[in-house]
Amino acid sequence: MTITTELSHLHRSVPATVAGRPPILLLHGTGGDENDLLPLGRTVAPGAALLSPRGRVLEGGMPRFFRRLAEGVFDEEDVRRRAHELADFVQDARDAYRLDTPIALGFSNGANIAAAVLQLRPEVLAGAVLLRAMVPLKDVPDANLDGKPVLILSGATDPIVPAENAARLAAILKGAGAIVDHRTLPAGHGLTQADVMITKTWLDQS
Ligand code: MLT
Repeated sequence: MTITTELSHLHRSVPATVAGRPPILLLHGTGGDENDLLPLGRTVAPGAALLSPRGRVLEGGMPRFFRRLAEGVFDEEDVRRRAHELADFVQDARDAYRLDTPIALGFSNGANIAAAVLQLRPEVLAGAVLLRAMVPLKDVPDANLDGKPVLILSGATDPIVPAENAARLAAILKGAGAIVDHRTLPAGHGLTQADVMITKTWLDQS
């Protein structure tokens, strides 16, 4: 495991122990950090290289990947700036650790920045798993996602992400050419065992 502050984001990098699996870019939720999703990454993609940055925005001391004005109301200029910053980090980390193009695995705020990176810098990601994601940018970028696989897992009783919003995100990504698998689970905003199982199966097949 490598911990370094030399790249733009504080992060953890876990080398692959199995050849041929795409690396996983782990993106935590609000108040999380670079350690949070490592166990999930190991479970859903055993043996894959893991790259786990910490969001550079602080909200009341809690790390996030971009600024928000209120819950579910995003500072879209900051979303764009931070998405490019994260995309640059991924490129630098790929060079530093000799990684293939990663699949993003983001939860909540981490899923939202992953969706923004997909739309603004699609070449940086091989695909994405978006757990409890919502539309990050109302002014939708003109992206070409050209067959990129995307799994979106929403919670039927999620108090943060309205069903309509998650469906709109799926439609936007599909409209840009991604192969989207969107499922709604009997869950709230928190992750369940079903999220873990479905993500593992999807990653095994992609
Ligand atoms: C966000 O701010 O990205 C979403 O509201 C999810 C959250 O982090 O609570």
